[in-house]
Amino acid sequence: MSDESKKKQQGNDEGVVQGGPAKQDKGLDLAMGRGLDIGTCNLVSAAQDKNGDIHYRSLRNAFIDVEINDFTKKMLTKLGVQYILHQKRMYVVGNPAFELANIFNRETRRPMAAGLLSPHEADALPIIRLLVSQTLGEPARENEPCFFSVPGDPIDVQMNVMYHRDIFNGLLTKLGFKPTPIAEGHAVVFAELADDDFTGIGISCGAGMFNICVSYKTVPALAFSTSRGGDWIDNNAAMVLGMKAPRVTAIKEKGIDLVQPRNREEEAIVIYYRNLINYTLLNIKKRFESAENMPTFANPVDIVCSGGTALAQGFVDLFAQEFKNVEFPLEVKNIRLASDPLNAVAQGSLIAAMQ
Ligand SMILES: Nc1ncnc2c1ncn2[C@@H]1O[C@H](COP(=O)(O)OP(=O)(O)OP(=O)(O)O)[C@@H](O)[C@H]1O
Ligand SMILES: [Mg+2]
Repeated sequence: MSDESKKKQQGNDEGVVQGGPAKQDKGLDLAMGRGLDIGTCNLVSAAQDKNGDIHYRSLRNAFIDVEINDFTKKMLTKLGVQYILHQKRMYVVGNPAFELANIFNRETRRPMAAGLLSPHEADALPIIRLLVSQTLGEPARENEPCFFSVPGDPIDVQMNVMYHRDIFNGLLTKLGFKPTPIAEGHAVVFAELADDDFTGIGISCGAGMFNICVSYKTVPALAFSTSRGGDWIDNNAAMVLGMKAPRVTAIKEKGIDLVQPRNREEEAIVIYYRNLINYTLLNIKKRFESAENMPTFANPVDIVCSGGTALAQGFVDLFAQEFKNVEFPLEVKNIRLASDPLNAVAQGSLIAAMQ
């Protein structure tokens, strides 16, 4: 028996035992360096092969716990799902957690909220560790550099980014990587603004947060986050519509045109989208104007939006409409969507790691 399978059976130092089929590795010949996007909704890893092609692996940042009994064990084996046993419960993580939530008519649990480790899921650390290790796979060698995204300085709530960052730092070190944090908005700049000498504005529009970075020649002149994102839109629209938030999420993700809402539900979603974009622009303006030692931007810059919340049809048009209503402190040439909005943060983190 290999050391790894022995460890699996005995449990690791946190008393976690893994079961179910082992994860298949594609056996790619990868170059050194990894990028990891740690998001409230999705975890995404990026690695480059020897031909320069980038490969992504993403996993929903969610889990579900079920009672340990023969029935559930058999069902999980039949579904081909990996599970872990921890403190008398069985846990299924990532995408299969949603399948299981359907079967049991329950909601999945989320280890993170509003961009950071959730205080309501304080005992979920072993589960997060499994999620991260499934997203990243094994390091190619001990201490392989891994850049992981963290929220920029949060401006509207008291949040402990330091705790969040250090937990992931420790966790990645334990998995055999040499971790370095990178502000999420800065990662968008690395992914999208190479042609502009890494000068411009990167915005990651996520589930728990919007992360913003104003960068001048690779250096972040301003990097901050707001605790409003897709979840904020869903929760607020749900409240005014008298619905549950997951129902609004479903309507939103099914495909909504933000410049042409078709009914009351879509209109409510658009109102909160508009509000969120305006809030983001006003915050950039306020911060930009009050910051000291701001570099002089000689040329107009691009604003690039990435993240799941930017995927809604018409997002850039709505953004451009709101932009006109704000006296923005910088000259802007284009407002555009990232070329791969769901992977941009992982891609930018990888680019930073490989440098
Ligand atoms: N087609 C779509 N239209 C609108 N919103 C979408 C669409 N697809 C996904 N979303 C929303 O995007 C969000 C997830 O985006 P993303 O994966 O960028 O977030 P995250 O990185 O996990 O979160 P964060 O960075 O805030 O911690 C969710 O709120 C989801 O509802
Ligand atoms: Mg994100």
